[in-house]
Amino acid sequence: MIFRNVFISIIIAAAMIISAFLIHEARPKVELSQPGPEYIRAIGKCATCHLQETSAIVHQFSMSKHASKNITCYDCHRAQNNQEEIDHKGFTIAKSLTALNCSQCHTTEYSQFLRSRHGAPAWAAVTGDEDFTEKQIDYAEKYHPGSVKRDANKLAIAEGPGVMEKGCMSCHSVGKPNTDGSIGNCTSCHARHSTSIALARQPETCGQCHMGPDHSQLEIYNESKHGVLYLLQKPWLNLNADPTTLSTKDMSVPTCATCHMSGLEGMNVTHNVTERLSWWLFAPISNKRPNYNLGQETMKNTCLKCHAKTHVEKFYKEAEDVVIATNNKVQYALDIVNLLRKEGLLTPEPFDEPIEFIAFDLWHYFGRTAKHGAFMGGADFVQWHGNYELLLKTTEIEELAETLRERANTEK
Ligand code: HEC
Ligand code: HEC
Ligand code: HEC
Ligand code: HEC
Ligand code: HEC
Ligand code: HEC
Ligand code: HEC
Ligand code: HEC
Repeated sequence: MIFRNVFISIIIAAAMIISAFLIHEARPKVELSQPGPEYIRAIGKCATCHLQETSAIVHQFSMSKHASKNITCYDCHRAQNNQEEIDHKGFTIAKSLTALNCSQCHTTEYSQFLRSRHGAPAWAAVTGDEDFTEKQIDYAEKYHPGSVKRDANKLAIAEGPGVMEKGCMSCHSVGKPNTDGSIGNCTSCHARHSTSIALARQPETCGQCHMGPDHSQLEIYNESKHGVLYLLQKPWLNLNADPTTLSTKDMSVPTCATCHMSGLEGMNVTHNVTERLSWWLFAPISNKRPNYNLGQETMKNTCLKCHAKTHVEKFYKEAEDVVIATNNKVQYALDIVNLLRKEGLLTPEPFDEPIEFIAFDLWHYFGRTAKHGAFMGGADFVQWHGNYELLLKTTEIEELAETLRERANTEK
């Protein structure tokens, strides 16, 4: 009897040592090097109390991969270098969290993200370079010349600070500089506690920002064959598949992430959404990007995991034809406006005369939409929301130009 109890105790003790060891091993390297007494005290405490206080957060967290890998609340919530701290129920936690907290364990994703236009360029597109350090500017300019060293956006200034905050910046904050020296946040695609990749692979997640007449990517996708197939087959796709082994069996239909980020069938997963692009489609007149060949080849390789080469080449040829045709129409219209300005018939200021708004809509809504539609399978956007509108707006610009010249002549 006594022997049996001793035996059981030994077994249990051994099991506890082994499991403690396993849990310890599963912990990320950062923690192994600096466990700290506060860290150990925090294990379980945050979740237990928060199950009473903010239960949904704990439920969201428990669904995450983090929970299954023994990452704790405190791993994310403790302050990193340069982060403001607050006292909280006997613990010291960071006042707010940024990409810095995630990057302590995910350096690869963070550095890819920094090289993309989701990093500093996204914020600078609205406010210019004033919020960045010299070092941050130099870094971003190396990858995207002219994207951060620029003035604040004239339209944003005209609309005023309140609107800028709730409007422009809600989307462009994906690359906001933080007071701790880091840039951006990771939660615009992953959410804070579920940190889900399924969420990030959903088109609607990208569509929170990538929608509307100036960048109708979500609407275009929804119109495309890919989009309608996704709608039907979503229940049979494996949206939670491990990114490092993602196959076409998991995702036989592409979403935004599949084409722009995923490591489909052995490709590299990337958080640099710029990597697979070959044209500056968002520009008034689209030119080839410096890494045109490489960018296009990488995207085509993605298509080729699911399609035949002839199919993909034909698609690209037709899309590039739309880019050229659209460029020509936009250039013609912008030349009219530029000439008026040169002749002194318009003020040098943008956004203070009706013709400037029409010209802006022309390239910013309809020109862009046509080009994006051509590359992502949106026929209606190439044509009715795109090139048709380009013709219509051009006639309006021509007529307004004529009126301005007539008015100037009679005033002479
Ligand atoms: C004894 C209970 C208790 C413990 C332990 C506790 N919290 Fe809280 N926490 C709260 C309460 C209560 C709030 C406020 C909730 C509200 O405003 O409704 C809160 C708020 C927060 C907030 C929001 C703070 C803000 O001002 O925006 C964070 C973040 C947070 N807790 C994280 C943690 C972390 C991480 C731990 C473990 C290190 C922890 N909490 C431990 C009870 C607790
Ligand atoms: C993967 C990192 C991560 C983990 C793990 C994590 N959090 Fe958070 N949490 C965040 C982020 C990011 C925010 C947003 C903070 C901000 O905006 O400053 C946040 C915000 C919060 C808030 C305030 C937000 C609100 O909606 O009221 C509370 C409370 C909170 N966390 C509690 C917890 C608790 C409790 C746990 C463990 C069960 C936990 N967190 C685990 C990343 C994490
Ligand atoms: C203390 C380290 C640590 C921190 C801090 C941390 N993570 Fe993680 N994260 C991990 C580990 C470990 C995994 C699991 C990796 C694996 O199994 O391949 C993981 C996995 C993930 C995954 C993949 C999930 C999946 O379903 O495959 C995402 C997305 C992620 N983390 C995002 C974040 C974000 C966003 C933050 C900050 C808000 C963050 N992480 C903070 C350690 C961390
Ligand atoms: C609904 C989200 C959203 C809002 C609101 C928004 N943007 Fe954007 N913006 C985007 C997205 C997404 C792109 C990328 C478009 C593309 O590449 O096709 C973009 C692109 C841009 C670009 C071109 C890229 C560059 O770096 O030059 C500029 C400039 C810009 N936005 C400025 C603004 C300004 C100024 C405002 C407010 C007046 C604003 N945006 C409001 C989402 C938004
Ligand atoms: C533009 C949206 C977006 C942003 C912003 C974003 N992610 Fe992701 N992330 C994704 C997508 C989509 C995937 C899944 C890729 C795939 O399909 O395999 C992913 C996957 C991951 C993974 C799993 C990678 C792997 O190889 O297992 C980690 C970890 C991760 N993200 C961390 C981060 C961190 C840290 C940040 C902030 C620096 C961040 N993400 C910002 C969209 C995003
Ligand atoms: C929080 C808003 C937001 C979300 C969510 C978001 N983006 Fe973006 N994205 C932007 C903004 C803003 C830009 C424009 C940055 C610039 O050029 O100034 C952009 C630009 C891009 C670009 C063009 C990059 C370049 O070099 O021109 C691609 C591609 C892109 N995003 C893909 C995605 C994908 C895929 C997702 C979802 C997995 C996603 N985005 C989610 C805001 C967002
Ligand atoms: C079938 C693959 C595919 C899917 C799905 C897809 N895209 Fe694209 N996307 C492309 C291609 C191809 C281009 C043009 C690439 C180039 O420049 O060579 C592009 C261009 C873009 C750009 C334009 C960048 C610029 O220069 O203005 C953005 C932003 C973007 N996609 C976002 C999205 C979003 C958001 C979704 C989902 C709603 C999405 N994409 C779905 C293939 C795809
Ligand atoms: C993950 C797989 C996958 C990827 C990646 C992918 N597609 Fe598709 N695509 C499909 C499937 C599935 C269909 C529907 C095929 C069918 O009807 O059998 C489709 C349909 C299409 C169609 C419509 C064909 C028609 O006439 O109905 C075009 C065009 C197309 N894809 C182009 C592309 C291009 C260009 C790329 C890369 C930028 C791409 N696809 C990337 C899976 C993919």
